[in-house]
Amino acid sequence: MPFKTIIEPFRIKAVEPIRRTTWDERAAALAEAGYNLFLLKAEDVLIDLLTDSGTGAMSAQQWAGMMVGDESYAGARSFFRFEAAVQEITSFRHIIPTHQGRAAERILFGSVVKTGDIVPNNTHFDTTRANVEFRDARALDIPVAESRDPQHIHPFKGNIDLDLLEQTLADHPGRVPLSMITVTNNSGGGQPVSMANIRAASEICRRHGVPLLLDACRFAENAWFIKLREDGYADKTPLEIAQEMFSYADGCTMSAKKDGMANIGGFLALNDDGWAQQCKNLLILTEGFPTYGGLAGYDLEAIAVGLKEALDEDYLRYRIRSVEYLGEVCLHNDIPIVLPTGGHALYIDAKSMLPEIPWKQYPAWALSLALYQEGGVRSVPIDSVMFGRQPDGSEKPAANELVRLAFPRRVYTQSHVDYLAEVLIYVNEMRDSIRGVRMIYEPPVLRHFTARFAPIGMDESG
Ligand code: F0G
Repeated sequence: MPFKTIIEPFRIKAVEPIRRTTWDERAAALAEAGYNLFLLKAEDVLIDLLTDSGTGAMSAQQWAGMMVGDESYAGARSFFRFEAAVQEITSFRHIIPTHQGRAAERILFGSVVKTGDIVPNNTHFDTTRANVEFRDARALDIPVAESRDPQHIHPFKGNIDLDLLEQTLADHPGRVPLSMITVTNNSGGGQPVSMANIRAASEICRRHGVPLLLDACRFAENAWFIKLREDGYADKTPLEIAQEMFSYADGCTMSAKKDGMANIGGFLALNDDGWAQQCKNLLILTEGFPTYGGLAGYDLEAIAVGLKEALDEDYLRYRIRSVEYLGEVCLHNDIPIVLPTGGHALYIDAKSMLPEIPWKQYPAWALSLALYQEGGVRSVPIDSVMFGRQPDGSEKPAANELVRLAFPRRVYTQSHVDYLAEVLIYVNEMRDSIRGVRMIYEPPVLRHFTARFAPIGMDESG
């Protein structure tokens, strides 16, 4: 095609207004929220890139599906449609619906992880880590070395380190109940995992008798990157690629709020009959009967349709290209970002952009406050606030100080992306005036959600 403009592969049928605010209103909103963007009122945000989770726009087909949702308590038709949709992609034997991804994690780890166990992963997402640690087990992150340098270009920076995986399984026989791979690697920059890496990890796990599970939240985006970047996959459909990815695993956890294209929902899928039984028993205790798992029948319908739409090539091309486009603008304007751009989000490297702010004054946090103050844009820091506190209560810096701009699915248009580009350029130009923050309250777990901060004044920061 001779045309370069990115167009959304859909027309808009329902619109939702967004609200402009003044600089002073945003300053007041920040103070009120304890300088924590999670504590803002969403209506005070112009462009909300806090997360791509549950924030997507559903299609006409999904809304139509919801109207035929079957709300029977047990054995509902909607469950069987949902089960068939998940099985077409994953082929796993047992499909257990949950209200979202972390519920699948809690039920899985609650059933099969014991005190002192180790769970390796390329990089645990924060709720996954918290759910492993809640079992008094160790969540071990073993991404490939290339992932540590944000500026290093590598097609599959989400890969798990196969040598470290082999070594972990060899050194701790009987202590690793399962191994995981997160596709794409969210906390590592939304970077994809190659098919070769999944296949090799699966062989290692099989040799040691350890089940391999995918954290499959963004499986469709990962499949698209394999199609674009891995030899031998250019002519395969995203569905065929996803099917092969799942064929190397023994199960998965899934947040359908991402590549399920739904506003709520998730599932746990397993091949092992014994594990599935244990998990279903726990599910009944806290989520609900195994044919609805905390969801309404209409949610199951929305997910059944959404999983297919997430694998549509036109959609994936538009989605991944929008993020890449914003990345190109950043590169042209010397804004340091994680390279190459990931699937669901652009990650700004705050350590490089604000080298004067020490990690204990949380540069990524400070940058994300500036993006809101200047442009009304809400992002999320993936940084030492999120990862700095260790299980023993001590503090250490996270591997990177990143600001994530996560793109909700099918929500914003190319002109929103152009506006964002302007805000990023503007904030980068005024970066010398950005000050760090001090944490003045922190809760005991997942502190980034509710911690409160004070901006550091000129006098304090020196
Ligand atoms: N795993 C990954 C890789 C995730 O990104 C998330 C959620 C979860 C598990 C948990 O799923 O939210 O449905 O309970 N990530 C969101 C985010 C919240 O903003 O990245 P959940």
